[in-house]
Amino acid sequence: MAKPKRSLPATRWPTRDSAQQSLLFTPIQVGSFECQSRGWVPAMVPWRATEGGEVTPQVLEWYGRMADGQPGVLVVEATGVRDVPSGPLLRIGDDRFIDGLRELVQVVKERSAGRTRLVIQILDFLRIRRRPEKHRFLGEFLSITKSHRRALEEFAPCGPDEADLRKALAELDDASLQKVLSQREWEALNNGERERVGDLQVDAVRDLPQVLPGLFAAASSRAQKAGFDGVELHMAHAYTLASFLSACNMRDDGYGSTIEGRQRLPLEVLAAVRAKVGPDWTVGCRILGDEVIPGGSRIEDACSHALALAKGGIDFISVSKGGKFEDARQPAVGQAAYPYTGASGAECMPTVTHFEQPFGRNLPLSHAIRATLREAGHGIPVIGAGGIGTFELAEEALQNGDCDLVGAARQSLADPDWWLKVREGRGDEVRRCIYTNYCEGLDQKHRQVTCQLWDRDLEEPDRDGTIQRSTDNKRRLNAPPWKR
Ligand SMILES: Cc1cc2nc3c(=O)[nH]c(=O)nc-3n(C[C@H](O)[C@H](O)[C@H](O)COP(=O)(O)O)c2cc1C
Ligand code: SF4
Repeated sequence: MAKPKRSLPATRWPTRDSAQQSLLFTPIQVGSFECQSRGWVPAMVPWRATEGGEVTPQVLEWYGRMADGQPGVLVVEATGVRDVPSGPLLRIGDDRFIDGLRELVQVVKERSAGRTRLVIQILDFLRIRRRPEKHRFLGEFLSITKSHRRALEEFAPCGPDEADLRKALAELDDASLQKVLSQREWEALNNGERERVGDLQVDAVRDLPQVLPGLFAAASSRAQKAGFDGVELHMAHAYTLASFLSACNMRDDGYGSTIEGRQRLPLEVLAAVRAKVGPDWTVGCRILGDEVIPGGSRIEDACSHALALAKGGIDFISVSKGGKFEDARQPAVGQAAYPYTGASGAECMPTVTHFEQPFGRNLPLSHAIRATLREAGHGIPVIGAGGIGTFELAEEALQNGDCDLVGAARQSLADPDWWLKVREGRGDEVRRCIYTNYCEGLDQKHRQVTCQLWDRDLEEPDRDGTIQRSTDNKRRLNAPPWKR
């Protein structure tokens, strides 16, 4: 049962002078670039690209608005390395995407007055289907096998005709049907079919080790040409490289089962990217400190992954938690499973409705990873995130050695200017995120992401004098301007 919503804890904001002296506003080197501050905006998908995955004016405004607040680093949303349709999510799987992305880079440079470094998160994901209607699944999609016939003998013997067999299946009660179907088929019926990295019988999955290094390298090279300061290889949450790293990866072709096997493809991807972009361009990654699923990777695995990646030449490691399909809530018929539901989803974007203490909740993970790296002599920066929305918490995390840069996704969504407000000693003007995940609910429904707090100023024009609304015309599309 959901816990009741609670109010945000009080916080104290620094004066301009003490902000200037803080670690948060001290420069730091990340690979080949220097950041002016240690404030990091992690990737967030805003659902504003074209159906073809191209940059739109709304995408430019989303990142331009984030850049107004001059964070040290801004990470562009998870962007697909393949040139395949994936809805209004950015793509970088072909050279035709470079011009639009170059424009995005320019906008961020201008609007941050050159103070924000821009990194793009790139990813691959496996196929996932929507939850089917039961009659269509049993009547059309399910491949009938001998084992179905055998199992059905027990409940409803029928003749050799496939149509009769499908009809018999459709008439079974759930308990019997579950016994007739395999576990994967039962899951496909109830949640939608989902490919796994262990599906070696599927050519495209078996061949991932041959295909992904080249795809990630080509995508990184395009990001470099577009003018980004670096790339973040998405090895976290529910996506392909994270699934290779996962303790659940039991591939027996040298790319799973043992920890070295699980790390092999991510390291080969890193090596291919590095070979393509050269030594003087920042290549980092995002990994999970804990998968939060039964049988999944824990912090010990994550520390081992971080060490292997550091040895492989990674320039930064951003640490996240959970966000897996394995425990995702059952989707409605016609919808796809969403990995930010279930226990692992709650840990990924902690809220005040799920947790007594969502603030900085995941910092022990980045702390442990950073300590492991430092003990082994690796000085690469580690980024922590999860419920960080105040200067006090951010500065404490840095002072404590929990991380080298502080990620604040939803707080930067609620108020993109918050970094600048804090730096200028005007923290009491910060619009504080209330961590109830209205924005994540929109992401789940594949709707343009906005913040519920923005709508308090529904009639306040954007800086160009217009008021941009969401496609349903009910919400502000952009954060209200900061009236200085
Ligand atoms: C709307 C939304 C979209 C997100 N999209 C991504 C994404 O594309 N890639 C990613 O690694 N994390 C994504 N996240 C997770 C955030 O980067 C971040 O890890 C998480 O929100 C916890 O940080 P916070 O408490 O500062 O918000 C998203 C979060 C939100 C709210
Ligand atoms: S919608 Fe809610 S959780 Fe999301 S950024 Fe706004 S205040 Fe924070």
